[in-house]
Amino acid sequence: MKRGMFDMDEVTGRSLDWSLFQRFLRLLLPYRRSATGAMVLLPLATAARLVQPYLIKVAIDDYIVAGQLAGLEWIVALFLLTVCGESLLGFVQAYLAQGVGQRVMADLRRLGFARMLRLPVSYFDRHPSGRLVTRLSSDVENVGELFGSGVAASFGELFALVFIVGVMWWLNPDLTLVAFTLIPVLLLILWLFRSSMRGAMRQVRSRVAGLNGYLAERLAGIHEVQLFGQEQRTLEEFGTLQEDYRQSSFRAIHWDAFLFSALETLSALAIAGILWRGGSGVLAGTATFGTLVAFIEYVQRFFSPLRKLSAQYSLLQSSNASLERLFQLFDEPPEAAGNPLPSGGEGDLRLENVSFSYDGRTPVLKNVDLNIEPGQTVALVGDTGSGKTTIGRMLLRFYQPTSGRILLDGVDLASLDPALVRQRIGWVAQDPFLFAGTVRNNLDPQQLYNDRELLDLIERSGCLLAVKRLGGLKGRIDERGKNLSSGERQLLCLVRALVLEPAIIVFDEATSRLDAGTEAQVKAEMDRARKGRSALIIAHRLRSVSAADRIHVLHHGSIRESGSHAELLASNGLYARLWRLQDLANGSEEL
Ligand SMILES: Nc1ncnc2c1ncn2[C@@H]1O[C@H](COP(=O)(O)OP(=O)(O)O)[C@@H](O)[C@H]1O
Ligand SMILES: [Mg+2]
Repeated sequence: MKRGMFDMDEVTGRSLDWSLFQRFLRLLLPYRRSATGAMVLLPLATAARLVQPYLIKVAIDDYIVAGQLAGLEWIVALFLLTVCGESLLGFVQAYLAQGVGQRVMADLRRLGFARMLRLPVSYFDRHPSGRLVTRLSSDVENVGELFGSGVAASFGELFALVFIVGVMWWLNPDLTLVAFTLIPVLLLILWLFRSSMRGAMRQVRSRVAGLNGYLAERLAGIHEVQLFGQEQRTLEEFGTLQEDYRQSSFRAIHWDAFLFSALETLSALAIAGILWRGGSGVLAGTATFGTLVAFIEYVQRFFSPLRKLSAQYSLLQSSNASLERLFQLFDEPPEAAGNPLPSGGEGDLRLENVSFSYDGRTPVLKNVDLNIEPGQTVALVGDTGSGKTTIGRMLLRFYQPTSGRILLDGVDLASLDPALVRQRIGWVAQDPFLFAGTVRNNLDPQQLYNDRELLDLIERSGCLLAVKRLGGLKGRIDERGKNLSSGERQLLCLVRALVLEPAIIVFDEATSRLDAGTEAQVKAEMDRARKGRSALIIAHRLRSVSAADRIHVLHHGSIRESGSHAELLASNGLYARLWRLQDLANGSEEL
């Protein structure tokens, strides 16, 4: 299978990036008090922890070995105090840091989703939804952790390292040198870990996004999977993707385990060195017994933060990639707001020499001219793939012409506010989408109508029975309208379009999936809906459009013929040929 489709993600090769980090710090601004509190408490908690070995040394050297019992209780009390201080400070610190982390995560999710909602639909052609879900889930989590445990903890650990070396040096420089003879080996190990872990983490991130993308796509197409008996193959493909994911996760874990054992070994070697050199020092009188004990404690506390620090480092790496992807999303230009519509417009639409391509290479529409005058019904017919739906989408300003322009009531559509355009132009699609929620929220989300008016409109549109069956306006519609038939869905979508009282209504093969009886019903409602407004009917069944004022035949993205039904038949071209073919087919169907 083609893995490339699902396992790539936009990850750049950059490592930690200062400008990115600055932008991250700005996200913390609203929570600067908690964030500063966490940062200040951290070195305090660390100091409380690191003073403990020193207190042990004092207790041993100045009291126990010296045979001086009086005052030992004070040292013990002080020791307990530092232990309590460490726990308390640590708790408050974690509370503050995690609190900030969680709030930053919520902000990122909200900002990200808000931006997605306002992006032009072409963005979603390029970005599969599974991947976008990953962006708002794992990417956001990674970034949240960056503050929750990452930045603050690294800061604390670094402080601990400096503190430990300082105290050790102050106590006994000679023994400190012995303890740290292996530093070059340590640096080598850390370097090795760092470079391998970076690659591994990046792969883990990219593959989990791929896996999510694949899952989302297959679950959305579960009918097709089962219909075409693709369960086994899908499972195999999933298996490959998830095996890749498992392998890269395992590689990351394996590097972490390597680091852990390496650090443990180094720490043991350092302790051995201290015992050897310090032991003879104690006997020779150049070191005290308490120093020896404190050194062993300090060395252990030196190596354990290193492991955490390295883990933080890889976290930082993956958060960096996540941050980058999130900021990329935030930087996507949303649809421009545009001007208000001209007042008193009656529903006049003109396409002037419009050409269009989705990908910038393959032309989909070529020099299309098309007029819909106020009150007129215009039909657009043509083969599947000839570009009919594309024209519809462009009228709704989902896509902009590559060249040429579209005028709504005399004003260039590109300069108008897309939200207002979509209020003036209603759209009923072939495969209408209904959201999970109540009937009312689907049909009249802006609450423009009261219950009575909305029910009236539903009744006039012929779907009162379906709505009653669901339990009225408060009845539940399932995800994608699963608990409705195609015809019912279509009629409800007609109501949804009419609620906004559009001046122009576009039907995109609105009846092509329906059986004959339902089609007749929906068509009657459509005819009624067309009264008093302009309409564009897109169809490939010519029968449904023969009554239109003007019919355009689209072929491979350009308009081949235009005229009324009678004119087109008389000219004996493409339309006439198609008409004869379809008529014949209809005739034989009815036999
Ligand atoms: N979102 C899209 N991205 C890329 N190509 C598309 C997209 N939608 C449609 N196309 C392509 O544009 C052409 C016209 O499609 P469409 O307008 O849906 O045709 P019709 O509605 O006449 O059947 C087709 O070749 C189709 O593959
Ligand atoms: Mg279509």
